[in-house]
Amino acid sequence: MSIVTIMVLVGVYFLVKKVIRQVTTPILDLAAVARQVTHDKNYSLRAQSAGKDETGQLVEAFNHMLEAVQARDAELEEARATLEQRVLQRTEALEREIAERRQIEEDLRRSEQRFAQIFRSSPVPTVLRGLNDHKIIEVNDSFLRLFGFQREEVIGRTVEELGLNADAAKVKEVSDTARRKGNLRDIEIQWRGKGGRSGMGRLFAEVIEWIKEPCLLVMIYDTTRQAKMERQLRQAQKMEAVGQLAAGVAHDFNNILTVIQANASLGQSEPGLDPMLKDCFDQISLAAERAAALTRQLLAFSRKQAMQPTVVDLNQLLVDYAAMLRRVVTERVKVEYNLNPEVPPIYADPTMVEQVLTNLALNARDAMPNGGQLIIATEEVELDHEFAQHHPRAKEGRFVRMQVTDTGVGIAPELLPRIFDPFFTTKEVGKGSGLGLAAVHGIVDSHGGWVEVESEVGRGATFSVFWPVHTSGQPQPARQGDTSVIRGGNETILLVEDEPAVRGIARHILKKYGYSVIEAISGKAALKLWPAIYPHISLVVTDVVMPDGVSGRQLAEELRRTKPELPVLMVSGYSPELAGMNSQQMDGCQFLAKPFKPAELARLVREMLDQAKATNGGNGNGQSSNGGNGQ
Ligand SMILES: Nc1ncnc2c1ncn2[C@@H]1O[C@H](COP(=O)(O)OP(=O)(O)O)[C@@H](O)[C@H]1O
Ligand SMILES: [Mg+2]
Repeated sequence: MSIVTIMVLVGVYFLVKKVIRQVTTPILDLAAVARQVTHDKNYSLRAQSAGKDETGQLVEAFNHMLEAVQARDAELEEARATLEQRVLQRTEALEREIAERRQIEEDLRRSEQRFAQIFRSSPVPTVLRGLNDHKIIEVNDSFLRLFGFQREEVIGRTVEELGLNADAAKVKEVSDTARRKGNLRDIEIQWRGKGGRSGMGRLFAEVIEWIKEPCLLVMIYDTTRQAKMERQLRQAQKMEAVGQLAAGVAHDFNNILTVIQANASLGQSEPGLDPMLKDCFDQISLAAERAAALTRQLLAFSRKQAMQPTVVDLNQLLVDYAAMLRRVVTERVKVEYNLNPEVPPIYADPTMVEQVLTNLALNARDAMPNGGQLIIATEEVELDHEFAQHHPRAKEGRFVRMQVTDTGVGIAPELLPRIFDPFFTTKEVGKGSGLGLAAVHGIVDSHGGWVEVESEVGRGATFSVFWPVHTSGQPQPARQGDTSVIRGGNETILLVEDEPAVRGIARHILKKYGYSVIEAISGKAALKLWPAIYPHISLVVTDVVMPDGVSGRQLAEELRRTKPELPVLMVSGYSPELAGMNSQQMDGCQFLAKPFKPAELARLVREMLDQAKATNGGNGNGQSSNGGNGQ
């Protein structure tokens, strides 16, 4: 090898070395950086700059590219982060929405449940029905209770099929009006339920949409009880008004009748009387008797009749009264008795029991113009709370039931509620007063009992009177007419009465029986007289209700301050209770109802005087004598 060759080779060697140093090394560097970038995904790495030659430019370009990639990567990273953030947010929002929706659904379900519960448990009977087909979709419990149906009996059936409205035409009318106006307010209806249930009601309705169908939500307020109470109140008010009027009239009438009856009696008993005049007096007496019976009826139903209750054996009373009753019903009517001998005594005014019986018998007679049968029955009944609840008039306890049954024309159902009204009569003018049953009702009611009627047109009627059983004591014989001669006396009697005619006749009677009479026209007047006369007075006969503010009772109390044993006879057209004498009667006080017969007054006066004498040890200021005869 020549030197030249060697030199060339050395030159080449150095040249190659330079090339390697200047080109290959930066490229290998570049490759290493590229590998590392790929491996680490670290775009912030840079290759080392390698001057301005091609390799340097290559490195430069590579670094530029890395810069761009890095920027892009940062952008991408940011976009990914934002996206992730958004997905997260959206997911959260969705979760919230779902929870909210669930809550809403839950609330809705709860609210529906609550509404259903309100609907079901509402005390107002409510029904949801089709507006057009009238088919029932839903009803609540109070509806079922009021109408008496089971739910399955009504759902799917029409209002007409079930006959819920007494007036079927009204159902369509309700629908039509509701369709026009959207609702209905306060319509009066008569509802009908299962098994004869019925009553009055007020209807409210609202048109609503129910599962795309127009429906009617109907509410019915049951006003049956209220209507009944209103009717009863009106009836009570009517009775009260008529009773007041009747009592007023009867009171005055009694005063007048006392005068007529007493004068007729005195006339009748005049010795050696012309038979024609005697007949006249008899007629007057009879007419007065009839008028007195009428005022008794008036007072009976106004409950202001003088009542003198005793313990009464009802069977005995009926037997004693049988002859009288037969006369009342005439011989066309056969009277039959069906008396249970076991019935306990009742506590009643025997005259009033007779009055009840007479009125019922008279009606029975009138109901059987061609004759028939009258059955009078007695029975003890014991009624429990349950029975009393279901019978409007009935009470709980032991009662003696007195039934009066006839085979007459009967009473039409629509008249039944009215027959006890005062002045209600189906009889022609002059035949019926319409006071009979009103009096019966008044009497029985004031005895703590009641009356029930059952009747079928063409078959007859049964009136059942329930008298409360007397709980203690023995039955006394029903009042007996005292036929013994009434004795008079010579005692001095203070007579206090504001009505001049009554005072006149009372004086007349008392004088006729031998008594001395000092008169006073009022309670006040009597009090004025008293200090001067009291040592002479053996008994006081006084009216109870007097105009100047001192009643008979007050007078009696006042006079007894100076004379504690003084017997006082109260005379009144009102009952003892109304006359202010109530049950706790004063000792030595008696009560006489107007109109009274002369003999009744005379007998009572004598009885009281004798009684006073017996208790005072016979130091009275007069003595009895066999004076005039009352009749
Ligand atoms: N036993 C009966 N049978 C048929 N109807 C009766 C009977 N009792 C009462 N009535 C009816 O009740 C009405 C009222 O009776 P009441 O008060 O006694 O008055 P009056 O007898 O004066 O008509 C009678 O007019 C009659 O229509
Ligand atoms: Mg009658």
